[in-house]
Amino acid sequence: MLSQRMQEALNVQVVMEAQSSQAYLAMGSWADIQPGLKGVTKFFFKHSDEERMHMLKLIHYINERGGFAIVPALKQPVLTFVSLKQAFEELFAHEVKVSEGINELVDMSLQEKDYATHNFLQWYVNEQIEEERLARECNDKLELIGDDKSGLYLFDRDIMTMENGERR
Ligand SMILES: [Fe+2]
Ligand SMILES: [Fe+2]
Repeated sequence: MLSQRMQEALNVQVVMEAQSSQAYLAMGSWADIQPGLKGVTKFFFKHSDEERMHMLKLIHYINERGGFAIVPALKQPVLTFVSLKQAFEELFAHEVKVSEGINELVDMSLQEKDYATHNFLQWYVNEQIEEERLARECNDKLELIGDDKSGLYLFDRDIMTMENGERR
């Protein structure tokens, strides 16, 4: 059984994952109307779906442990970006914040000796390592590319394989 405090904290994470999903959905829609960003568009939409899956996983867990998962209202995310670089900077900042949220939950689960929740959260701990790695890599590449159009072309072409192919 979840403590009231743990339940509330997990529900805050539900909000965070839902907001992430919305934020990346907006990035996808923005990228979709930019010329030549088909790969990036796919990447953002796929990521949005993944965040929704992260949210669902939490919802199922909260309810399974005798809590009640609250489906939250969502704020409108940032809709437009001055550049792809800016969108990815926001994505990275967002993932760092999510990681902080997960770390706080892990901390709380230990304080409360809630080892089931601690165990459940390990999946998110690992996921965030990968998410931050990927976002950092995208930012590094875009930094190198700058305004170079052929670089951007390759970035867009390769982004989906960066996610799957280079997994360590
Ligand atoms: Fe997530
Ligand atoms: Fe994420």
